Amino acid sequence: MSIKDKNILLGVSGSIAAYKAALLVRLFVKAGANVQVIMSEDATQFITPLTLSTLSKNPVYTKFIKNNAGEWVNHVELGLWADLMIIAPATGKTLSSLAHGYSDNLLVATYLSARCPVYIAPAMDLDMYLHPSQKRNLEILSSYGNHIIEPESGELASGLDGKGRLAEPENILEAVANFFKTASSWSDKKVLITAGPTHEAIDPVRFIGNHSSGKMGYALAEEALSRGATVHLVSGPTSLSIAHPNLKITKVQAAQEMYNAASEHFDDYDCMIYAAAVADYRPSTVATEKIKKKGADMQIAMTPNVDIALSLGKIKKPHQYAVGFALETENEALNAQSKLERKNFDCIVLNSLRTEGAGFQHDTNQVTLYFKSNKKLELELKSKREIAKDIFDAIEQSIHS
Ligand code: CTP
Repeated sequence: MSIKDKNILLGVSGSIAAYKAALLVRLFVKAGANVQVIMSEDATQFITPLTLSTLSKNPVYTKFIKNNAGEWVNHVELGLWADLMIIAPATGKTLSSLAHGYSDNLLVATYLSARCPVYIAPAMDLDMYLHPSQKRNLEILSSYGNHIIEPESGELASGLDGKGRLAEPENILEAVANFFKTASSWSDKKVLITAGPTHEAIDPVRFIGNHSSGKMGYALAEEALSRGATVHLVSGPTSLSIAHPNLKITKVQAAQEMYNAASEHFDDYDCMIYAAAVADYRPSTVATEKIKKKGADMQIAMTPNVDIALSLGKIKKPHQYAVGFALETENEALNAQSKLERKNFDCIVLNSLRTEGAGFQHDTNQVTLYFKSNKKLELELKSKREIAKDIFDAIEQSIHS
């Protein structure tokens, strides 16, 4: 699938980078797409609607328009028309409005009405971009399934040097073109993903858990969905959220529940990814009442939990592709490879605890992939979303080799 004949809706908000919207429209039109443009009122201070309307060969919208019945409908119509919406540049204010549904202009109202995939390319000054509120907005927008095209580094309009420049129009076009190329590559595939920690109850108010945030598993689910797969995400307790028409999410607490959800309809899956940090043991008994403090030492008797990946590895069919994760603190490579064999994985992703910025709770990770075929792929420190992309690329390559 290519970008040709696709309906691209470009939303332009009021940043100095709005001038790049002209180049972007030209690139999309040259690639054969149909382009319509919405501008915020502020954006019209930086570039004229006439420029974008001439380049897109379509009227440019800045205001809500009423139909004959007196209803405001153009945000709904534009949202339904688009195969893909891209908001570039997205200012800090626009990011906040998009993240929180503050629909005070046509651009945001159309974003809220759109059913198509949405790409967001922020542009703002260095320190603004680094503010925790913007980081949070981007996390929220990603969790809604939007694709973020990160700003690039370089000289900014303020004269400062750093990250915040709108991605170059060529790079935005490439991201969108890749989207259409990969959007259907897994459309006949069903993927099972386990994610997050498990909480093993001690009594009604306490549990044994771990520091897993679930971010890697959720990033993998997003990537699988972006390739057109149908995904069943079995998630332990996390603060993350994700929604997509092709996604079924089962929220669980303990390992046994995670196993029950993952093993149901197991034969239907083409690919299983075990990204959850499952507790190996659980308290042998769960007290029905809150355990009272007794003063002396306390011990909790523990029973082994089901090993989800190991159990399902035993019934895995040759056409099913399984990916495991390992977090080791010594003999990393050897331990990971022995887990690959023992649990019948086709690939195992070894997390590094030694790299700054990698592992639990972080947005970035540094991993090495080991394959059944003895191949090894070492990835540099990057965002979990990018790692998810590399993992799926590697699975595709490994299936086809
Ligand atoms: N796993 C699982 N169920 C378990 C434990 C682990 O599905 N009860 C999966 C994890 O999701 C991961 C892989 O198995 O994909 C390896 O997990 P890890 O905890 O590193 O392995 P363990 O077998 O528990 O080994 P260790 O002795 O290192 O804890």
